[in-house]
Amino acid sequence: MDPRVAVIGATGAVGDVFLRVAEERNFPMSELRLLATKRSAGKSLTFRGKSITVEETTAEAVAGADIVFCSATSEASRLWGPVVREAGHIMIDDGSAYRMEANVPLVIPEVNGDDLEWHEGIVSIPNCTTTPLAMALAAMRRVAPLTRVTAATYQAVSGTGSAAVEELRAQLTAFGRGEPIPAPSVYPHQIALNVIPQVDSFEEDGFTKEESKMRNETRKILHAPDLRFAATCARVPTMVGHAEAVHAEFASEVRLEDLREALRAQPGLELMDDPAHNVYPTPLNTAGDDRAFVGRLRIDPSADHGVVFWCVSDNLRKGAATNAIQIAEELIRRGKL
Ligand SMILES: NC(=O)c1ccc[n+]([C@@H]2O[C@H](COP(=O)([O-])OP(=O)(O)OC[C@H]3O[C@@H](n4cnc5c(N)ncnc54)[C@H](OP(=O)(O)O)[C@@H]3O)[C@@H](O)[C@H]2O)c1
Repeated sequence: MDPRVAVIGATGAVGDVFLRVAEERNFPMSELRLLATKRSAGKSLTFRGKSITVEETTAEAVAGADIVFCSATSEASRLWGPVVREAGHIMIDDGSAYRMEANVPLVIPEVNGDDLEWHEGIVSIPNCTTTPLAMALAAMRRVAPLTRVTAATYQAVSGTGSAAVEELRAQLTAFGRGEPIPAPSVYPHQIALNVIPQVDSFEEDGFTKEESKMRNETRKILHAPDLRFAATCARVPTMVGHAEAVHAEFASEVRLEDLREALRAQPGLELMDDPAHNVYPTPLNTAGDDRAFVGRLRIDPSADHGVVFWCVSDNLRKGAATNAIQIAEELIRRGKL
């Protein structure tokens, strides 16, 4: 029988895209329950042409699903993860609550799908900036061992959730009308017409949590615990699509032709790289696509064996909903539900 599915956070930015991606991929399910907080209980959402009423998240609803997709908050993941495990079912968690736990696989199916073999009831999906980066690095390190990575990100507001999308929209609308721009409430500074070099809160070492997540998660996915890594994450006033400028170094010489071939061979990744014709990925020209994109690949003359590239992916799709559904599809394929 097809799995019974529950979505915690169905009314959020990721939840909305999750429903669309599940429709597009015709994800098999015998039952679908849409869960959120009391605030949204009673709202109607449409799935496959039918209206479904959102319910408050309860133990009964969570335990009654074979697969629980959780795209809510860390608190919700921590609360409901044990209930799912206890019921012997599986939670696919979009949040950061479990990502670094030793018994929780952190999975991009096209990169480390084999890690699904050892799940114990919870599988995490990576942070939305980690996913395209890890896909590109996984491809490139087939050419030569990877030794060091530095990255700067340009992250869209939808990565913060629907309240941040509304904040940017309201600020842009006011600017367009020549009215005073409303004060920010989601971000520490106005995001319209600005770039904020802070994603999430700061840690003692001066990096933000987002920057630490990128480092730790990339290492876990690539099974490369000693990979030298540093990132600067910035929030930019785009709606959807996270972009990254990446410098990668290798243990031996690499040729661009070989790297291009490896990137073309990487499932789920598209090489979009024809600078002579202004062809490279941008948040706008890749939004709504389920793939990760790489462009502007070139040799880094400042490193012994280094390259520089640009990668982009839709944070709500491959960075969240699509990856979560692909994990479920892969679990079904492997008989690991
Ligand atoms: N946005 C991205 O690009 C992205 C990418 C990867 C991972 N993620 C992760 O996905 C999760 C959701 O992000 P989002 O951007 O969709 O956020 P969002 O737009 O703010 O939506 C949050 C959703 O979670 C629900 N929720 C909040 N607290 C809850 C609780 N205690 N119990 C049950 N449901 C609760 C909300 O329900 P109400 O409607 O009732 O408030 C809403 O449906 C986060 O963990 C985030 O880190 C996001």
